[in-house]
Amino acid sequence: MRNSDKEGEKSALVLFVSGDRYVLRSAERTFSSGGIRFLHTDNAQEALDIIAREKIAVIIADNYFSETKGIDLLSKVSSVSAGTMRILIANDADLTTAVNAIYSCGVSRVIMKPWIGDDLYQNVKEVIIQYHISQSLKKENTETLLSIAQAVEIKDLYTLGHSSRVAAYASMLAQASGISSEISQDIKYGGLLHDIGKIHIPGHILNKQGPLTNDDHTVIRNHPGWGANVAGHLSLSQPIINIIRHHHERYDGKGYPSRIKGKGIPLETRIVTVADVYDALTSDRQYRRRYSEDDALTIMKSMSGKELDPGLLELFIDKCLKAHDSRLYSPAVCRRHGP
Ligand SMILES: [Fe+2]
Repeated sequence: MRNSDKEGEKSALVLFVSGDRYVLRSAERTFSSGGIRFLHTDNAQEALDIIAREKIAVIIADNYFSETKGIDLLSKVSSVSAGTMRILIANDADLTTAVNAIYSCGVSRVIMKPWIGDDLYQNVKEVIIQYHISQSLKKENTETLLSIAQAVEIKDLYTLGHSSRVAAYASMLAQASGISSEISQDIKYGGLLHDIGKIHIPGHILNKQGPLTNDDHTVIRNHPGWGANVAGHLSLSQPIINIIRHHHERYDGKGYPSRIKGKGIPLETRIVTVADVYDALTSDRQYRRRYSEDDALTIMKSMSGKELDPGLLELFIDKCLKAHDSRLYSPAVCRRHGP
């Protein structure tokens, strides 16, 4: 059984549309073995009828039909069900169509034929997560967002509970900063979702026991950009996208991916970074126990003006940690890959 057989995926309904019965059979095998609820049809009009009738999380359309093209079908889906995420199955001859599908038609993914191994399943699983994020943000459903963040953490065994603690610490600091409640809400969501790009990092890299290779590091360093792209596709607010894209930037400009520095790093991101570093230091790691509160603060003070915004760090220590019981949770497991 795939470790992705979780309630969020099981409860999402996926519709697969293709005029090719071999492709349909292959898709049926892929989804039935993974536990994703799955409907299929070889008729474009029937697909639109199903979408109007059922709550479809993801439609996957083969670009080849007898009567129409998958891209034409997908372009009609948003008028029937705006929330349904769209995936196009294409082949090498469709590259121009594939690019247009992403940039003009709001298609979340293009999967090239023939797909290999778990490729289709993994892509659909990730798009289902996007769907749940999108639905939860519309309903301001923090519980579901938390479960999505936890789904990512389950993949990275050393970060369980991290996102919810970062969201809580960041919310405290946002409140102490006196910024608007709207941005504070975005900071809470951004704290929960900041590592969402890790869903793209293969589990064998995230949980590798030996030293990481340069290639492994390259893959890991892509997670802020991947996460921001997901957030962009979902039309999440700019502060949430900023948090996801820039949570590994440093105040001195030596971070990644953009090497922006100082106040050039959006305020909401600098807030989450302070929370992220604090939680990393006060959580166990694979190779060390968590630092004591005093030691963690000593380390953070040494990061002032380097990794962290000096003003926000001071505020966090003086107004948040001293005013609250700073240990929100007792993480039972350790972290490895840094904030
Ligand atoms: Fe991260």
